[in-house]
Amino acid sequence: MSLDNLLKNINVLAIVCNQWGDTGKGKFVDYFSEWADIIARGTGGANAGHTIVINDKQYVFHLVPSGIIYDSKEKINIIGNGVAFDPFIMKKELELLVAEGLTHNHLMISLNAKLVLPHHLILDRLVNSAEGQTKIGTTGKGIGPLYEDHIGRRGLIVNDMLNPDIFVKKLKANLEHNLILLKSKDPEKIKEVLHQKDLGNGIFYDMNNILNIDIITDVYREYGKFFKEMISNTELILKSSLGSKKILLEGAQGHLLSIDHGSYPFVTSSDCSIDGLAKGTGLHTSEIDFTLGIVKAFYMTRVGEGPFPTELGGTKSAEWCKTHRKKDEEDLYKNANVNSLNEFEQGIGIRFTGKEYGATTGRPRRTGWLDLPLLRYSTIINGPNIVLSKVDVLNDCDKIKICTGYVYEGPNYNNGNETLKTGDIITVANVHSEVLEHCKPIYIEFSGWKSDISGIKQYSAVPHKLRRIISFIEFTTGTDVRMISVGPDRDQTIIKE
Ligand code: GDP
Ligand code: IMO
Ligand code: MG
Repeated sequence: MSLDNLLKNINVLAIVCNQWGDTGKGKFVDYFSEWADIIARGTGGANAGHTIVINDKQYVFHLVPSGIIYDSKEKINIIGNGVAFDPFIMKKELELLVAEGLTHNHLMISLNAKLVLPHHLILDRLVNSAEGQTKIGTTGKGIGPLYEDHIGRRGLIVNDMLNPDIFVKKLKANLEHNLILLKSKDPEKIKEVLHQKDLGNGIFYDMNNILNIDIITDVYREYGKFFKEMISNTELILKSSLGSKKILLEGAQGHLLSIDHGSYPFVTSSDCSIDGLAKGTGLHTSEIDFTLGIVKAFYMTRVGEGPFPTELGGTKSAEWCKTHRKKDEEDLYKNANVNSLNEFEQGIGIRFTGKEYGATTGRPRRTGWLDLPLLRYSTIINGPNIVLSKVDVLNDCDKIKICTGYVYEGPNYNNGNETLKTGDIITVANVHSEVLEHCKPIYIEFSGWKSDISGIKQYSAVPHKLRRIISFIEFTTGTDVRMISVGPDRDQTIIKE
């Protein structure tokens, strides 16, 4: 099938992730940017790490929409109202784009995007490392504290940078709350965080009051001047473009990290589902014509804390990824590969082959087999159309395992008016962490296709053994695999007939 056929009669296309992030949204947003007139982000912020490879050159962006490097001055890239906007990071990314000779003429930032402030980063980094709290393993980009301020009705928005009097008034009111929190933390640690590079090496630090409000106001006023021409009512622009322009919505994070649908509390603080994405751009979900949910296959990954039933090497892997870096495993497990007999090492082998190291934090991504109960769960909200990505990573794998269901092995759990008991079978995941952590996967095993698929362009050329696995997934989850991705490059993409 051609791209034209796939997108026939589609005006608004959305890319979301049906897992725990890092499935290749960046690649696909870049891929569909040729088709789109407008590319918009609606959720998350610099916690995202979206990697795009063009002619063997790799670009990693955290905040700018992934369509930005598409070589066209006609396209508009939008940071929507739902995004956590960090002006420091955005300015850096724009400078990088200019240095690369890439344009950012057509970047628009919603005046209602949520404004990241220095104390968001401090609180995120301190709470993240605090003893005795539920550790989430956040990216440290201030995301949780920022959205807390928004929901707590004391947040600032991008437009406030353009009105310094309003900015300072709102900042003071905001800090009345946040300074109480900050004062409960170790002052030496606060000082240390405030001297980190992305916090201006200490410019905001005040010995007596923790934060220097005057300096923050000055710095954000300057940001306001820098971004002024890019700030506008993007919600209205998107609404009025419906029907006349091709709109591509770029999801961040993944459904299982959604504050509303994910494995709470081990989630991010925005709604990464299709509904959150629509809302974060000012659109309604019903205005989206086509949603593609990206699914890493036939393995999956998770970064940070939280249950992961199919994790290869289980808790040993989770602990290892928390405390080690790429270099450690290259030194200690250099022979690990996708066929290692020891599961923990097989997980490392998949990580090596898939280059699964965090684009934002460099952390090893925990690896495990594809989990169909979780996929069934995500597609309830995100819809049946999916893309299988990174399929080439398992080219050499002898045996591919897919989790078709779980056996619950925990204590009795009252789930609404039903009670889950040990031995119960689960086929659609219950993402309550207290349930997920006691789920033992049931696997089906397929023999691998054992050939290099990274150069294949047509679905008819996909090995029979691989097509069999894809049909199995479609049949047992009710999904429609629309595309498969066989490499990081734009042209390593196959549209399924
Ligand atoms: P995102 O956060 O969803 O945009 O994904 P990331 O960029 O964090 O991680 C996906 C990684 O896989 C990136 O390094 C991509 O370049 C790479 N990638 C994307 N699709 C494929 C694929 O089909 N095969 C391989 N081998 N790599 C891919
Ligand atoms: P992309 O868009 C993978 C995870 C963090 C942590 C949790 C909360 O590249 O797919 P946060 O900093 O958001 O408060 O962290 O969410 N996380 C991601 N994991 N990919 C991402 O984004 C992520 N963004 C956040 O690791 O467990
Ligand atoms: Mg990523």
